[in-house]
Amino acid sequence: MANTNLSNAKSAKNDEFYTQFYDIEKEINAYLDYDPNVFAGKTILCPCDDPYESNFFKYFALCFQELKLKKLIATCYKGSPIANKQLSLFDDESAENKTTRNPHKIEITEIPDLNQDGVVNLYDVQLLLASDRNHLTRLQEDGDFRSEEVTKLRDEADMIVTNPPFSLFREFLTWITEANKEFLIIGNMNAITYKEVFPLIKENKMWMGATIHSGDREFAVPDDYPLYAAGYRIDEKGKKYIRIKGVRWFTNLDHGRRHRQLPLMTMAKNLRYNNKMKGKQSYDKYDNYDAIEVPATDTIPSDYEGIMGVPISFLDKYCPEQFQIVGLGNSRDNFTPNKDYINPKKVLKDGSIHNGGAINCVLAIETEKKPIGEIYYTSENSKFLLPPYARILIKKS
Ligand SMILES: C[S@@+](CC[C@H](N)C(=O)[O-])C[C@H]1O[C@@H](n2cnc3c(N)ncnc32)[C@H](O)[C@@H]1O
Repeated sequence: MANTNLSNAKSAKNDEFYTQFYDIEKEINAYLDYDPNVFAGKTILCPCDDPYESNFFKYFALCFQELKLKKLIATCYKGSPIANKQLSLFDDESAENKTTRNPHKIEITEIPDLNQDGVVNLYDVQLLLASDRNHLTRLQEDGDFRSEEVTKLRDEADMIVTNPPFSLFREFLTWITEANKEFLIIGNMNAITYKEVFPLIKENKMWMGATIHSGDREFAVPDDYPLYAAGYRIDEKGKKYIRIKGVRWFTNLDHGRRHRQLPLMTMAKNLRYNNKMKGKQSYDKYDNYDAIEVPATDTIPSDYEGIMGVPISFLDKYCPEQFQIVGLGNSRDNFTPNKDYINPKKVLKDGSIHNGGAINCVLAIETEKKPIGEIYYTSENSKFLLPPYARILIKKS
């Protein structure tokens, strides 16, 4: 396995990996470029963030004045195993000075230049916490974002910014959206296929962030994090990092990239010049839904007025002025097929035959020729059927 991925993290319930400072800074800069006052006067809550380990807290504390924040709140969950161990807020801080693993929160409404060195930085935050104990307090409950205590802080906040536990992503998103908050959070690209998540994308209540579009990202992990994957690194200070695939920012904050239209070619030109359409005389049509199959985002034709099925990575380039999202071809919650296959069978690569009911819930491409080396379906009212990978259904705006 070349990389650790989010589903591993999910199944292992090992949610302890920490976002790097520069990934946060780069993303936030995109929102500031679009609207320099996007954070001005706002209360930001980082609800899965031990302030002593989280770069989200570190970033907002450092930029508190520059962003003109009203208040910054960070809360730490009881399960966080590395508080009091490593990845400290202050790299040179001794272990005794750090918090214990008890759930706690930090609330800050101003960061004065306490050491009077002419700049406000993390040393001023350190002095602030040391000089006024009111800023750092124990939570009465366990710091779970769903607790009454943290939910009250959510209600007070204007914006939630964090990398939440991936195993609780759906619940976390619901927790934010039920309170109508602005948000910027990290999750797995696959989350968009969840039935709680996709409607938000479809209704333009949530979209992908500005800076992570492909490949993987590096996250810091505790010393005892199980490293199954080849994709890890230990730096010169002995800190461990893993690379995680499929990571994306999810947000309802606007940014410029979202309004940049994709340059497109006509159908005829794609068929003629685009390598990804090589060997095709025309775009495939689904057998059970009135739409064409578009195998890659850069093969979307400029001159097709109907519905098109495109890979979910299209969302990285989605511009609502150019396209509208009409469905998702992965379940009947998200699209309605116009045909039901009778007595469908699934044929595995080894030729074994199984119940194929799943084909009635996804898009299907019919083919005359028996597929070789591929899983396919058959039924009493079709020839051979191939389901494409997860597809978003779109049409021109
Ligand atoms: C993926 S880590 C990210 C940590 C931090 N937000 C960051 O990006 O560096 C998710 C964090 O959520 C915490 N967590 C797990 N379950 C939680 C819950 N129910 N409520 C709040 N936080 C939780 C974990 O302890 C972990 O530190």
